Parts: sequence; structure tokens; C-alpha cells
Amino acid sequence: MPPAPAPAPTPLRDQALAELTAARARTAALTDAVPDPELIAQHSPLMSPLVWDLAHIGNQEELWLLRRVGGREPMRPEIDPLYDAFAHPRADRPKLPLLDPADARTYAAEVRGRVFDLLERTPLEGTGLLADGFAFGMIAQHEQQHDETMLITHQLRKGPPVLTAPDPAPEAPYDPPPVPEVLVPAGPFSMGTSATAEPWSLDNERPAHRRQTGAFHIDTVPVTNAAFQAFIEDGGYAEPRWWAAEGWEQIHRHGIGAPLFWHREAGQWLRRRFGVTEPVPPDEPVLHVSWYEADAWARWAGRRLPTEAEWEKAARFDPVSGRSTRYPWGDSAPTPEHANLGQRHLRPAPVGSYPAGSSPLGVRQLIGDVWEWTSSDFLPYPGFRAFPYREYSEVFFGSAHKVLRGGSFAVAPVACRGTFRNWDLPARRQIFSGFRTVRDV
Ligand code: AVJ
Ligand code: FE
Repeated sequence: MPPAPAPAPTPLRDQALAELTAARARTAALTDAVPDPELIAQHSPLMSPLVWDLAHIGNQEELWLLRRVGGREPMRPEIDPLYDAFAHPRADRPKLPLLDPADARTYAAEVRGRVFDLLERTPLEGTGLLADGFAFGMIAQHEQQHDETMLITHQLRKGPPVLTAPDPAPEAPYDPPPVPEVLVPAGPFSMGTSATAEPWSLDNERPAHRRQTGAFHIDTVPVTNAAFQAFIEDGGYAEPRWWAAEGWEQIHRHGIGAPLFWHREAGQWLRRRFGVTEPVPPDEPVLHVSWYEADAWARWAGRRLPTEAEWEKAARFDPVSGRSTRYPWGDSAPTPEHANLGQRHLRPAPVGSYPAGSSPLGVRQLIGDVWEWTSSDFLPYPGFRAFPYREYSEVFFGSAHKVLRGGSFAVAPVACRGTFRNWDLPARRQIFSGFRTVRDV
């Protein structure tokens, strides 16, 4: 049978192609940076071996694009259970009979080649998986999410540095924030989004719905290392009244007295990042803190973490139009002027950077730099429907996980927007997590 004529190119098709290609370039950079034994090694029981992420990226792409969208037969059905994230906890994955690095690379590349053929001949329309190329966008986001996961593994890895930042520019645009906090007025706003407004939004961001908040003051920028150090020096880790009970228990069980990757030497705080040890830079947003540490700092400061709704209102609500925009700066896609994203710099920028990324109310650095803990549990919005699979979001809903917002320097633009929701256990600190705080009016 002659092949069907290829549908005409569309901006969406080009966008899907570009996003898949960009994700693979980052995956290659992260996996080519270390020799094969380090791809197979367990760098931390919290993380998978890098070679697992690599083959899992290919396997999810095969499952969703080649099999579900394309109707193809499985390429290697025997490997599916190895790369099912629910079948084996991360700590156990090094012991599985995983594809070796060469085989994992070949498999992922073969899947990708077939996906490009499929993309050329698939109409990106209708409802469901193919609407506006959703499945392709979802898979590009999935790969980029694992690229952030792999960067976390790199951070946990011991040894000399192997990564270089793609963008060597030393400085982000800088403009000191004029005020330390911004008033967000009381009233309703539109939270969340829809397939119409944001075709590649994931199920937990939907649907858009009205939310009410009181008036509150929110930090103009994320809490800095210097501000966090003041808490340490004030004995914050030794004062039970600042801590949630489980947080107090955790810091004692593990002897925690500073953010992860910090240590004190000759009267000075140092921190290790991607194999480089340096004095803690005072003006950077604090990074690698648990929800408990963020919550304790806020209580010590006489403040609190924002709810998820408060964070999103500060990020998206335009008081002039009454609308919620896609990003703090408006509806246009992020550029390097707006935010520190995409592993370009491999570090958060000093607070006060990225004035072009300001929200209408004047809140800064909401997108990029560090994930920001919120006080909220990860729960479905009213009218939530799992799409396209329950295991992306639904199985994680409940009080065990806290929501993080805004994305970090390690998140690609395609997987970051004003409505994007991340979640993790409140004890986690290997993730690129920081925070900002609020106070009631
Ligand atoms: C949204 C970052 C919590 O890594 O567990 C990757 C993303 N889901 N593969 C995770 C995800 C399936 C997810 N987080
Ligand atoms: Fe995954």
C-alpha cells in the first residue's frame, strides 16, 4: 500500500519536532557526560541509575506515541516491566537486568526515528491525545522532566565536575527589587487552565476555576541563602517551636542543621554543586531545603508559606484586566530575558535578576531559578479528570505530597508555566527546591 500523503506542515508539528529534539539534546548531554560505569551506578538510593532514565524515556515515548497514537506493535515487550516506574522503587532499579548503555541509546534513538515518521503523517487535531499534538507535547515534557531528574542525580554524584553550563553568560539581567514584599489584593481570580487556553497543559492543571483569596503580602523574590543563614545562626534548627512535628523528627534522625550540600569549614558555609565546592553565595535563592525547613524558616520570620492559590494569583493575576495570564509577564513563551530555565546556567540567578519576568503586581523570579514550596497538599481541582493516565497525577493526590510551583533553573520552558504543578514529599531536599513567604494583611 502506498504511504498516505504527509499532512501539510503546521506550526504545531514544527513545535513538537523542535521540543522533542531539544529534549533529546539535553538527555544526550546529561548521559554522555559520564562514562558507562557511571550510567549504570547507583549514585543515591533516592534516584534511578541514569541508564534507567534513558531507556524509560524511550519506553514511555514508544508506549504513548508509537503504540497508542500510531497503533504499532511493541518493539521489545519484554522490557516494559523494567521501565514501569510503579513496578520497582528507584532504590531497587540498579539490580534489574536493565539495557546496557549502548542498547539503551540505540533503543531510544530507534523509537525517536519512528516517532518522527509518525509525526510527519499524523494529523494533530480532534479531541483527546492528538488534539493540538498533545501526546507529542506530553512526551517532550516527560523527557524534560526526566532531564531534571537526571540533573538531580548528577548533583548527588560524587567526584569531579563533568557538566558545563550551555550558556556561559556570567550575569542575568539585574535590577534590584524596589520593595521587599508586594500586596496582593483580596478577591477572586481564575486558577488553573484548559486544553483550549493551554493545549499542552497536563491533567492536574485543569480545569480553570474561580478561587478566592484574602489580601496578603508576598516576598518580591525568593528567600536567599543569606536570609536562611540568619535562621541557622539564630539557632533555628535547635528551636522546636519553629518546626512541624515530623520535620523536627527528621532533622534529629538525620542530624540536619543546614540545607543539603552545605557544610561548615573554618567558620564559613560552603556548598557543593555539580562537583564544585564554593562559599555559599549570599544573594542566591536558598536551594535544597525540605518543606519542613521552608515552613520552619517562615515561622521563625513571623510569616508563612503561600498556599498554592496565593502563589498562582501572585504569578498570574493581572489586576488591570482581571485576567490570569499564562506567565507572570503575560501570555508569550519564556525567552532567556524572562526567566532562568532549561539548565542553561546550571544554577539559580541572584535575587533581583530577570526584571522582565516580573508579574503585573511586581513579584519577581516566580518562574525558573528554584521550585517554590507551597503550604498546600497536592489535590485535584474541582472537575479534575485523569488524562491520559491515572499514574501521572491522580495516584499522588492526597495529604502525603506538597505542591511546588514555578519551576527551577533545571526545568525546560516546555514543562513550565504559571499553572504547572509539581509535587513531592515534604522531607525531600535533593530536588531543586527553595521558597518564598507571605503574611496576612
Ligand atoms: C511531576 C516531577 C513529580 O518525576 O515523579 C516523570 C514527573 N511523571 N515521569 C516525577 C514524571 C512520570 C513527576 N513529577
Ligand atoms: Fe517517567
